[in-house]
Amino acid sequence: MKSRNGSRPPVKRKSKEAKRGVSSTKTTLARAGATCTVVHGDSRVELGALKGEVDLIVTSPPYADARHHHYDSIHPDKFVDWFLTFHEPFYAALKPTGSLVINIKDKVVDGVRHRYVWRTIEALCERGWFAVDDYLWHKPNAMPGYWPTRLRDGWEYCFHLAKSKRPFFNPDAVRKPIGDWVESRLRNLGKNDNSRHNSVNASGFGRDISKWVGKQTVLPSNVLTIALVGKNKGHPAVFPVDLPLFFIKLLCPSDGLVVDPFAGSGTTGIAALSVGRSCVLIDNNAEYCEEAIRRLQIEAAAGWCSARPSLNA
Ligand SMILES: C[S@@+](CC[C@H](N)C(=O)[O-])C[C@H]1O[C@@H](n2cnc3c(N)ncnc32)[C@H](O)[C@@H]1O
Repeated sequence: MKSRNGSRPPVKRKSKEAKRGVSSTKTTLARAGATCTVVHGDSRVELGALKGEVDLIVTSPPYADARHHHYDSIHPDKFVDWFLTFHEPFYAALKPTGSLVINIKDKVVDGVRHRYVWRTIEALCERGWFAVDDYLWHKPNAMPGYWPTRLRDGWEYCFHLAKSKRPFFNPDAVRKPIGDWVESRLRNLGKNDNSRHNSVNASGFGRDISKWVGKQTVLPSNVLTIALVGKNKGHPAVFPVDLPLFFIKLLCPSDGLVVDPFAGSGTTGIAALSVGRSCVLIDNNAEYCEEAIRRLQIEAAAGWCSARPSLNA
C-alpha cells in the first residue's frame, strides 16, 4: 500500500539497534534501511548493548563547568576522572577498526587555560587508545567579545582516537574541489615545478606541483572551517551538522553504525541519516531526547536527507 506521496507508509518496527537490545525510548525509521534510535539514558549503561558493533563514536561531551544552568557540570579538576568512566564502555562498543572523535574545548580558569582536555587525551592513550590525529574546527563566525589577555575563541579541538593504528579511513569521501587558485598557478609551471622541488631553506619539505595538473579535487587539511549554528535548536551547545558529517564520511563505512553518546539535540543523527548511516543517539536528559526526535523528524526529513529517502516516523 502506498501513502499520499506515493511512498510506503510509516511502519513502526524494531530497528536493528532495538533488536540488538538497546532500550530505546523512541525509534525513528528511515525508508531505505538506515535507522536512527534515540535512547534516553546514561551512555555508560546503554552502550553495553552495542559491544563490538560500533564503527564510529563522534561526540561533544559537556564542557567542564561551562553549562551548569543546563545540565550537570564537572569541575575542570575532576574532568579527567569523570571522562575516564566512559573509557571502558566506549572501547568495548567499538569494532577493532573503530574510531572515537571527541569535539571539545578547554576552559579558562582564573585567567589561564586549564589543561583538562590535554590531560584527558593523555589519560585515554595510557589506557590503550591511539591518538591518530588532532583536527581543529575553525569557526569563521566566532562569538564577539573582549578579554584583557586573550582574543576571541575561534576554534575547538576534534581529537581522533582509535583502537588500532590503522582504523577504517576513507579520505576520498571528503575530497573537495581543488579551487580557482590552481588555474593561475599551474598555467605557467617553472623549472622547479616539473620535478620534486625541495625547500630552499633545506627544511626537508618538498613538493612536485606538476602532479596537480588536471586534478579536480584535493584532500582537505585537518583544519575544518565550519560556521557556528545560528539558530537555537532547543539545546545550549549544538554543533553544526557538517562537523559530525565530515567524520562520518571519513571514518564510518557506508553500512556502518555511528553512535553519539552525548547526543544533545541529535545533530549527529541528522548527519548520519543524510549519508545513509545508521545511528544510535544517547542522552541522559529526556527533554534533549525529545528535541532530537523533533529535529530528526523535521530537519532530516526536509533537508539533510534530501539525497536520501525521508523519515517515516
Ligand atoms: C555538549 S552537549 C551535546 C550537544 C550536541 N552535540 C548537539 O549538537 O546538540 C552534551 C550532552 O551530553 C549529555 N550528557 C551528559 N552526561 C551524559 C551521560 N552520562 N549519558 C548520556 N548523556 C549525557 C547532556 O545532557 C548534553 O545534552
